[in-house]
Amino acid sequence: KTKLVMLNSPSNPTGAVYTLDELKALGEVLLKHPHVLVATDDMYEHVNLTGDKFYNILNATPALKDRCIVLNGVSKAYSMTGWRIGYAAGPSYIIKAMGILQSQSTSNPTSISQVAAQTAIEGPQDCITPMLDAFKERHAYVVDRFNTIRGLSCLKAGGAFYAFPDARKAISNLHETGKIAEASDMALAEYLLEKFDVAVVPGSAFGAEGYFRISFATSMDNLINALDRIEKALS
Ligand SMILES: Cc1ncc(COP(=O)(O)O)c(C=O)c1O
Repeated sequence: KTKLVMLNSPSNPTGAVYTLDELKALGEVLLKHPHVLVATDDMYEHVNLTGDKFYNILNATPALKDRCIVLNGVSKAYSMTGWRIGYAAGPSYIIKAMGILQSQSTSNPTSISQVAAQTAIEGPQDCITPMLDAFKERHAYVVDRFNTIRGLSCLKAGGAFYAFPDARKAISNLHETGKIAEASDMALAEYLLEKFDVAVVPGSAFGAEGYFRISFATSMDNLINALDRIEKALS
């Protein structure tokens, strides 16, 4: 029944990164199911927090090339989110169909955005380094702080700019003390937003009940403020 397998590494929301061996193991399974298409969303390719080399499923299993679609864009690596430029490579019949669909739905991205994206991709890449240095500093701060807050535990990310703490204990603490009516990540997110002015995305939005996501694509001052408020909310 499966038509397409979608891979996203580094991941939104967890920041997890597949190793080459893990991708090879996935590739072996996919080779046994030739009717399945594979899409690899490499959007966070350059938002690499460990310095390890980037791999996608095609690097691991080149034999999937005829049924693999590689997706990427300029939003993250060059902070060009509003410019609306993504790009894809894949079998020509799929790319052609994507073009037809796109031209009838959003017509096309502006020519200004296209030239800006080309300049970003073809120009010097050293602008990425200071951005990564800032992300690494914020990542360390956020993960360390989450691991000191009551009821939270947080793994380190390998890439992207998200922290995805396990909040199951915090949720049950808040529920037991009557601060949230329902023991869910949605109730936790509402509580943080309504009472402490912090916006987080509940894990259930990604199929992971009991977790929440924060983005550290914001200033250290904002993060310190947000973490102080979350700490207060959960203490
Ligand atoms: C995993 C992933 N893929 C793709 C995108 C798309 O980015 P954009 O629509 O800005 O090109 C995002 C943005 O959040 C993302 O997290």
